[in-house]
Amino acid sequence: MNILEDKNQCYIKAALEACTSQEKEVLEKNIADIDWSILEHIHRKETVNERGVFAPLEAVELDEIKARGEEFKEIGLEAIRTGKVGAVLLAGGQGTRLGLDKPKGTLNIGINRELYLFEQLIYNLMDVTKEAGVSVPLYIMTSNINNQDTVTFFEEHNYFGYPKEDINFFVQEMVPACDYQGRVYMESKTKVAMSPNGNGGWFGSMVNAGLLADIKARGIEWINVFAVDNCLQRIADPVFVGATIAYGRESGAKVVRKAAPDEKVGVLCTEDGKPSIAEYYEMTEEMATARKENGDLLYGFGVILNYLFSEKKLEQIADAKMPVHVVEKKIPYMDLEGNFVKPEQPNGYKFETLVLDMVHMMEDCVPYEVDRAREFAPIKNLHGVDSLDSARELMKGCGIEL
Ligand code: UTP
Repeated sequence: MNILEDKNQCYIKAALEACTSQEKEVLEKNIADIDWSILEHIHRKETVNERGVFAPLEAVELDEIKARGEEFKEIGLEAIRTGKVGAVLLAGGQGTRLGLDKPKGTLNIGINRELYLFEQLIYNLMDVTKEAGVSVPLYIMTSNINNQDTVTFFEEHNYFGYPKEDINFFVQEMVPACDYQGRVYMESKTKVAMSPNGNGGWFGSMVNAGLLADIKARGIEWINVFAVDNCLQRIADPVFVGATIAYGRESGAKVVRKAAPDEKVGVLCTEDGKPSIAEYYEMTEEMATARKENGDLLYGFGVILNYLFSEKKLEQIADAKMPVHVVEKKIPYMDLEGNFVKPEQPNGYKFETLVLDMVHMMEDCVPYEVDRAREFAPIKNLHGVDSLDSARELMKGCGIEL
């Protein structure tokens, strides 16, 4: 696709016209470096989620985990002690709902003291490393937008006491963002508006960053991927790791029991016989409300963005194409008059692949139930549902002093 031949592209055109010849050179180079084919996904926006046949998938529920907890934990601790478990923190998002101008993990979640989101996550991981008596390699995915701030933040805080040699940062790829008509926004006179390409490309980005060698040298066999914004996140949880190994599956997903049939969470189920996640908007009323004989919801467990994947399998699927989701987001841009606009409402599309789609690339998966009051406090907004406010309440409920 030659973007310069597309008459629709008014923002690029206006920028080119306003540029001095020197600036023009910079912009043309920027344009030439971008893979524009991603824009084609706008036309299949409605069909990207065309799905197969969904069916329920039994979860390993809390009572079973309790009964077999010691056995699972031993297996998991053994895997951790022998260096087979690594963790990947997905921190390349922009947190547009939160409206921060800095990396989400630098958010102070404390009330009477300073306690940063990144700090809390490191402490959560250290609960495990202390018990296991070994460190767990942690890889942190950032984007071009927040990489420098993130790295500096960790350095300034001395990695919150975590061994520096076991933390590796890597940067995810960026793709152009556009308005609802497919007109690519400009971020400045000489730069196209780019956004991180979603959290689904993390393994590919690790490979591009040359980290596969590190994974192999360390002998990592399992990778626990998790989101930056759940401050109660248990990382490299030995019981979860042990359960996935004990069941002989190539992946595991932490899930919580749905609070209500219409709760807006993606549900772990099967799709054409393979594990998959049905988004809440893809569920029919019938699916969402169907119940088992014991009264539990048939599709009753939602994912919380904490997955365990077999490293071997990740390598096998590394080159596979993932579905591209076209998502409406707030995109700051330079208008046709050259004014910088920071929209209050979504004003266009970003293109993202999602880690949840990786689950469908696995042969099998353990849906592993966790108690949401203890492990699920996502911070997507400042106030209201899934917010800093609600997360603070949940943290207090877990005895964490703020
Ligand atoms: P979200 O889907 O909540 O996106 O990310 P976000 O960018 O943080 O926030 P909004 O939607 O703009 O408000 C879920 C997890 O995936 C990571 C985020 O950092 C978070 O841990 N993520 C998201 C990435 O690492 N890269 C991305 O491109 C998008």
